[in-house]
Amino acid sequence: MQDATIVAELKRIPLFAKLDEHTLASLSDACQWRRVPARRPVILQGDVGNSVFVIIEGRVEISRLTPEGEDVFLAERGPEQHFGEMSLLDGAPRSANVTTLTDCRFLVLDRGMFFHVLRSNSELAVAVIMALAERLREADSQRGSRDSVRDKLVAYLRREIERQTGGTPYKGAEVKLGLSRVEIAERLATSRESVSRELSALAAQGAIVVNGRGVKVLRPEKLQ
Ligand code: CMP
Repeated sequence: MQDATIVAELKRIPLFAKLDEHTLASLSDACQWRRVPARRPVILQGDVGNSVFVIIEGRVEISRLTPEGEDVFLAERGPEQHFGEMSLLDGAPRSANVTTLTDCRFLVLDRGMFFHVLRSNSELAVAVIMALAERLREADSQRGSRDSVRDKLVAYLRREIERQTGGTPYKGAEVKLGLSRVEIAERLATSRESVSRELSALAAQGAIVVNGRGVKVLRPEKLQ
């Protein structure tokens, strides 16, 4: 890729948008682009971390292996978001597994370059700190969540509808869930049976029609 094209591509990423031309140019010299097909590991929990990843295209899942050997879902990340910064910041092993959900293209920065741009640009440092703070809030709210399975499922459906249609639920909106009931249950910290029960209840109330891994919205007001 031409340098100018790389710089233009870097500028489109909010994390780097405020970097000056000089920093962007050195970043474009030092970064690597990596394509990884769907359902492949990108980061393995416990490994030494030497690079940070910015997602250009695709989606990844972040999960953590418990001491009992259970793989627990932590988060899903998509374009313009980053991961893999924690090991670089604190020097500890990778805290989680990161696996591609779809075909992905990443921008990969090594430790030296990451610290160079971080030190030379307070905007970038603030953006990284803000992402860490947001993550801590998410973790706190998940831990303290007293939401019912129905509330969590409705919030999950709304998020998927917004992501796939670009707007709030509307009559006739059709979305693919892309996940099995077990995977949805993991994300909502509940059981597969509860997910199936609540999906059936929403269908019985005429809010949605469930069709395998897809859902069609019939009464958007029921998904508030
Ligand atoms: P690192 O520990 O280097 O490698 C795994 C990455 O997963 C980690 O950096 C973070 O970028 C990301 N990560 C770890 N825990 C969470 C979480 N709870 N939510 C979102 N991302 C996480």
